[in-house]
Amino acid sequence: MKLLDEIQRLKIERNAVILAHNYQIPAIQDVADFIGDSLGLSLQAQATDAETIVFCGVHFMAETAAVLCPDKTVLIPDLEAGCSLASTITASQLRTWKEEHPGAAVVVYVNCSADVKAEADYCCTSANALRIVESIPADREILFAPDMFLGEYIREHTEHTIHVWMGECHVHAAIRPADVEKQLAEHPDAELLIHPECGCVSNVMWQLSKGDLPPDRTRITSTTGMIESIESSPASEFLVATETGILHQMKKRHPKRTFLPVQADAECMYMKMITLEKLAKALREGIHEVRVPKETASRARLAIERMVSIH
Ligand code: 13P
Ligand code: SF4
Repeated sequence: MKLLDEIQRLKIERNAVILAHNYQIPAIQDVADFIGDSLGLSLQAQATDAETIVFCGVHFMAETAAVLCPDKTVLIPDLEAGCSLASTITASQLRTWKEEHPGAAVVVYVNCSADVKAEADYCCTSANALRIVESIPADREILFAPDMFLGEYIREHTEHTIHVWMGECHVHAAIRPADVEKQLAEHPDAELLIHPECGCVSNVMWQLSKGDLPPDRTRITSTTGMIESIESSPASEFLVATETGILHQMKKRHPKRTFLPVQADAECMYMKMITLEKLAKALREGIHEVRVPKETASRARLAIERMVSIH
């Protein structure tokens, strides 16, 4: 309790806002001013009047906020909170790939460093990836990085010629078709909510196209998209294929419904690095400030602004 009181006091003293991703531990979600997916949190960062943003999420998310809000102080409670997917591509690798496909439009998923975003034409999140790609003329080749499962999902749903970088998130890649099939066999009436980074997503699309899965009870969407889709669903049971931190919001908002993880140990160790103690320390000491060099930020900003303008 003392720690929560201290966080509230320091927040006022610093004129700070606390943003938390849907995968954060419950205690962090409960103390946050806003909880959301990558797109929603970027929009909140852009809209806030607070002088300081404390980003309870992973490093690329805090960097995105720093690019969007150059006049604000962006803090992350643990600098080690990285992302296995973001580290599958560097700016120099992307430059080499671009040289192999001159003239192609480069679309990067938000899970990458600011250096990589600075090399891109467009940035997208799981919430608007399809809309971003559809805003590009259909005759232009596209390089999509770094998530191969999301890339495959986009390729299935658009007419564009898309080259996909073979990166993956270790948490989502491990959610396999067999996990989904087992859970569906045990819970035949449940609705299936899937994050497009999952290793099962291509198989689920294939099953949908064959009519083996009911399209009205299968949703492939961002973390906030999953939470919001529950509102309009008549189902009482949901199978959730993503990081298990999301179950906290689902259960809190819908206490009478049942939510089951497709894979119970799908945990992102990076997201779980943020604790109440580290959050309090961040507010107390003004650490760890996330800064993006001016030149990188100005090159990354165009791609990120395209991302936040299409939602
Ligand atoms: P969302 O933008 O859908 O919340 O996804 C972010 C993420 O890191 C998924 O692993
Ligand atoms: Fe990165 Fe995967 Fe963690 Fe999301 S769940 S932050 S993609 S490592």
